[in-house]
Formats: sequence, structure tokens, C-alpha cells
Amino acid sequence: MSEAIIINNNLSKQEKYQELIPQLSALVEIETDLTANLANISAALHQTFGWLWVGFYMIKDNELVLAPFQGPVACTRIKYGRGVCGTAWKEKKSLLVPNVEQFHGHIACSSLSVAEIVVPIFDKKDEVAGVLDVDSERFDVLDETDVLFLEKINILITTLL
Ligand code: SME
Repeated sequence: MSEAIIINNNLSKQEKYQELIPQLSALVEIETDLTANLANISAALHQTFGWLWVGFYMIKDNELVLAPFQGPVACTRIKYGRGVCGTAWKEKKSLLVPNVEQFHGHIACSSLSVAEIVVPIFDKKDEVAGVLDVDSERFDVLDETDVLFLEKINILITTLL
């Protein structure tokens, strides 16, 4: 099959996710390597939504370690409870941060990022295995619709772990 992701640019955000998710499912079901699949998921999200940064941190040796992403160079390791990523891991829940300056302890990998969403990835035992992180240069882009659909994408990722 073709590896291309095709999304109509005229669709609403919700419709774009509804077109994207079945294509992501088809893309990852033909590959067993986790890194390859996370790389394509980050690329597909970046291509569809054009965010500043989108990618993964996965837990290794009790730290979040940078994994496949699209966007500028980023911090490589984040401790439990630190930043938005480490807090989402600790609290085992998605965090929508409309203004990063108002999140105490936010880790500024890029000074261009003003808003962020972090969604935990759960393994099959319901333990946090990593996080999906999205950063935006704009205040008006990330919202609860993104949280809802990024959580659906992370449920897909659970099946790959
Ligand atoms: N801002 C994140 C760090 C990761 S980068 O944004 C890619 C945080 O506060 O955890």
C-alpha cells in the first residue's frame, strides 16, 4: 500500500482527525517496529496540522526520553513530575496548556512555543509508557477537540506496545 496520508485541507479540525485516524491505523498495522510507527504518526500529525512540534517521549530508566518527533531540536530527557510532560506522566492524565507561561515549571524547549498539549500513552497494564506532546506557536490552535482525538490516537499506540 501507499505510505501517503491524504487529508482534505478544507475540512474542520474534527473532520481532519476523522480522516486521519483510519489512515494511521492502516499505516501502523503493516509495521511491527514501534519507532517506525511513532515516526510516521508524528509525521502524519505534523503534515495534517502544521504544529510547531509534535512527537513522543517514552519512559526509559524512569525518565522520559525523546523519541520520534517532527519540529525543532528538543530537550532529550524529562524527569517524573517535571514540566508539562512529566506532570502528565505523574497525574496519568492529558494536560491542555493554553498559555505555557501560566504553567508552573513548564520546560521551554523552544521559545516559539506558546501553547501545549501532552497526552499520556498507556501500556496494556494501564501504566504510563510515554507521552505524546504537541507544541503550538499560536494561542488559538489547541483545544479540547485535539485532546479528545489525540487520546484516540494514543489508544491506537497502546495496541503497538
Ligand atoms: N514543554 C515540555 C517539554 C518538551 S518540549 O515542549 C518538546 C514540558 O514542559 O514538559
